[in-house]
Amino acid sequence: MSSSNKVFFGELFDAASGSYKSYINGQWLRSCSNKVVTITNPATRKEEFKVQACTREEIDAAYEGCTEAQKIWRQVPLWKRAEALRKVASVLREQRDTIAECLVNEIAKARKDSLSEVDRSADLIEYCAEEGIRLLSKGDFLTSDAFKGTDRTKLCLSSRVPLGNVLCIPPFNYPVNLAVSKIAPALISGNAVLVKPPTQGAVSGLHLAQCFDKAGVFPKGLVNFVTVRASENGDYLAEHPSNNCLSFTGGDVGLSLAKKVGMIPIQMELGGKDACIVCSDADLDLAAKHIIKGGFSYSGQRCTAVKVVLVEGEVADQLIEKVLGGVNKLTVGMPDDNCNITPVISETSANFIEKLVMDAKEKGAKFLTEYRREGNLIWPCLLDHVRPDMDIAWEEPFGPVLPIMRVSNTDQAVEHANKNRVALQSCVFTKDIEKAIKISDSVQSGTVQINGAPARGPDHFPFQGFRDSGIGSQGIANSIGMMTKTKTTVINLNSPSFTV
Ligand code: G3P
Repeated sequence: MSSSNKVFFGELFDAASGSYKSYINGQWLRSCSNKVVTITNPATRKEEFKVQACTREEIDAAYEGCTEAQKIWRQVPLWKRAEALRKVASVLREQRDTIAECLVNEIAKARKDSLSEVDRSADLIEYCAEEGIRLLSKGDFLTSDAFKGTDRTKLCLSSRVPLGNVLCIPPFNYPVNLAVSKIAPALISGNAVLVKPPTQGAVSGLHLAQCFDKAGVFPKGLVNFVTVRASENGDYLAEHPSNNCLSFTGGDVGLSLAKKVGMIPIQMELGGKDACIVCSDADLDLAAKHIIKGGFSYSGQRCTAVKVVLVEGEVADQLIEKVLGGVNKLTVGMPDDNCNITPVISETSANFIEKLVMDAKEKGAKFLTEYRREGNLIWPCLLDHVRPDMDIAWEEPFGPVLPIMRVSNTDQAVEHANKNRVALQSCVFTKDIEKAIKISDSVQSGTVQINGAPARGPDHFPFQGFRDSGIGSQGIANSIGMMTKTKTTVINLNSPSFTV
C-alpha cells in the first residue's frame, strides 16, 4: 500500500499501533484489547499489515448496533434499499485500484485478477439490487377453499421478511467478492450484517467496509466489519445469541461451526475436489484449454479449481501432450507482474502442497514437470499415473498441482468422483450430449459442467456442494431466499368471500 493510499484511507488506520481499525457501529475503532493480528505478504513473506484483534465486548457492541439499525432498515422501502446498494457499487468502482492493491499485497492475486474481483463485486451488488426488487416484491395468495371441507373464509397472504442479523464469513481467496456475495443479499432483504473478514484479506475487507461507509446511505450499525483472532473469538461470533443467520465460505472449520450455531439458517461452502472427466470422444483441445485455466487460475487456490483429471486411457497421451504444452507456457512470478502462477497464501499452505507432491512421488506418480519451489512460490506441477492410494487423489492441494488419473472407462471415473468427500463441482468433456447427461446424472456433486471447467459464476447461478462440501445453495436469488423467512397474514371472514 503506497503512503498516498494510506492518507486517502487515513481514518481506517491507527498510526499509534500501525494497524487498521475495525468498523463497528458506524465508527472506525481501535480495539481495547491492544492486540493485533499480523498479515504476512505471501510474496515477500514479510509483515504487510496489522489489524485489530477485537474483544468479546466489542463483538457484543457490533451485534447491538446491528440489532438497532436493522429495526430501521427493515422498514426502508425496497426501492430505496436497492438504490443504497447501487451507491455502494459506484463507490467500489471508484476505489477499484486501491482495493486491488490490497489484494495484490495480502493474497498475492495477480493485479489484473484483483481488478476483476473488484469489478465483479460491483456487478454482483448491482444485480442483487435488481433481483431483490423482483423477488421480494412478490408473494403468494392462497384461499382456504382449496382444502377439503373448508369454505372460502380464509385468505392467506405470504411474503418474505428479513431474518435480522447475518454473520458473513468470507474466505481469503475472494475477500471482496465472496464478502459482497453475502452482504448484498442480506442488505437488500432488510437484514443487518456483521462481517468477519479472513485474516489474509482483512485489509481489503476493511477498504470494502469504507465503501459502505462512504456511500453514506445506511443507518449506523447496519454494516460492521470486525477483525478478530479466529482461534479466540470465531466461535463466539457464530454462537452469539444475536446472530440470526450464518453465511460461511472456507475450510473444514465450517463443519464444527455448523454444529455450534444452533437453530438458525446456515449457508456454507467448504471446498471441492472438483473432478474433470475426459471421455475418449472429447474435443481434446477444448478439454486441455479448460483444464489449464481451471486447474491453475489463481495458482489453483479456488474451491472450483479442477483438482483431479480422470481421463479415458485411450486418449490420455494425446490429452496430456496438449495440457503439458499449455502448462509450460504459464508464467511464474509475482502478482504485480500479472504472472499466471503467484506465491500461494502461506508457508503452511506451501508445506501442505509439498507434502502431497512428495507422497505422490514416493508412491510412483510420474512427474510431467519438474517440482520446484522457492518460498511460497510453487511452479505448476503436473502429475501422471496418479492412483487412489496417493493422497493427492483425494485431497485438495489448493495450489498449482494437478493430478491425472487414467481410467478404463467413464464408470470408473464416476465411481472415483463420487467417493470425494467435498463434492462441489465436476465437469465432463464429450461430444456426445446423451453421454454427458448420463454422466451428469450419475456424478453426485453440486454442479456438473458439460464441456467447460468448474466455476461459480456468473454470480446469479445456483452454487452448492454435496457431502462435506457444504450446505444450502448460494447464488444471488438463493441467498436472498435463505436470508429471509416466510411470513403469512391470514384474513378470516365471517362468511365465504364470494362464489364465482
Ligand atoms: O468459493 C468459491 C471460489 O473458491 C471459486 O469461485 O468464481 O473462482 O469459481 P470462482
